[in-house]
Amino acid sequence: MSAAAARPLSPLLLEVREGLSRVQKELPSKLFYDRRGSLLFEKITRLPEYYLTRAERTLLATRMPAVIARLAPRTLVELGAGSADKTRLLLDAMRAAASGAGVSDGTYVPIDVSAEFLRETTTQLGEDRPGLRVLPVVADMVETLALPRALPRPALFALLGSTIGNFDFPDATALLRRVRDAMCPGGTDRFLLGIDLRKDQRVIEAAYNDAAGVTEEFNLNMLRVVNRELDADFDLRAFAHRAIYNAQAHRIEMHLVAQRALRVSIAGMGVVCFRAGESIRTEISCKYHRASVARMFAKAGLLLEEWIRGTGPAYALALGSRAA
Ligand code: SAH
Ligand code: AVI
Repeated sequence: MSAAAARPLSPLLLEVREGLSRVQKELPSKLFYDRRGSLLFEKITRLPEYYLTRAERTLLATRMPAVIARLAPRTLVELGAGSADKTRLLLDAMRAAASGAGVSDGTYVPIDVSAEFLRETTTQLGEDRPGLRVLPVVADMVETLALPRALPRPALFALLGSTIGNFDFPDATALLRRVRDAMCPGGTDRFLLGIDLRKDQRVIEAAYNDAAGVTEEFNLNMLRVVNRELDADFDLRAFAHRAIYNAQAHRIEMHLVAQRALRVSIAGMGVVCFRAGESIRTEISCKYHRASVARMFAKAGLLLEEWIRGTGPAYALALGSRAA
């Protein structure tokens, strides 16, 4: 056996190999997010069709200051923080509550798998908010929730942008269970979840099939990442973007569809064959309603305390506490 063959396969390669061995080939959606992918996502948030970010921003701006004033969190832990652009609304409210109480601006723990982009977010926040203690964590939120020790309490945990939708129900529940376990028992910690709600299928499909083709670029970026990270030779020109709503499962599914039969080689894994028209599912984006969120919270040991909805496109913030 050669030295190369004896080397253990990386966890990412094992995950990719497992996903590409399924009848419906799949790749994990975290692979969208190298720096380029994170920037493309930021571009998506400004598209006219992508209503989600605007809807959430409105709710955060109009409804959260009162909630933050009441809870007075000393720490904000955010999973999948990205640019932390909307998060600044929460940080502003925390600063206002802190200055009223005569204490420091607080601690912010942004967690993200996109390492370089997280570094840029942290640098920017450091320049803009010198009074804020920022403790970034590069981690896959699907794995353990590794937090810095002795965080000031109360803590507000947040998962915004409808990122929860990118996990199927068992994985989403397991993720929320880990958040719940990180919350202080019987304490004043809270969990804030941003959720895209079920609505007219045409509105949802338009959001994932924008006219400018940014979502297509974002989708294809995953193959660039796989080529670079796993020494693969996906030909990006041979794949087309497809995003369709699965009404039974209440979710958008993004695919990359092979435009011809082809063979792709991935170092350490061998050759993967595609038939013409065969696809890789790159993302699911589940759409919820109040009852399904309540069910997910209950399964994760969380109590749904507040359901915050606006008048715009159906979108909600759910505030939860750790169930006894
Ligand atoms: N919260 C921001 C960004 C949402 S985009 C907003 O509301 O606009 C999703 C974010 O989650 C990206 O920054 C991406 O890098 C991160 N992400 C995706 N999968 C992840 C994973 N498995 N673990 C940690 N971060 C992840
Ligand atoms: C990050 N996540 C919630 C986005 C979504 O809407 O599912 C990612 C995205 N995919 C395509 N457009 C945006």
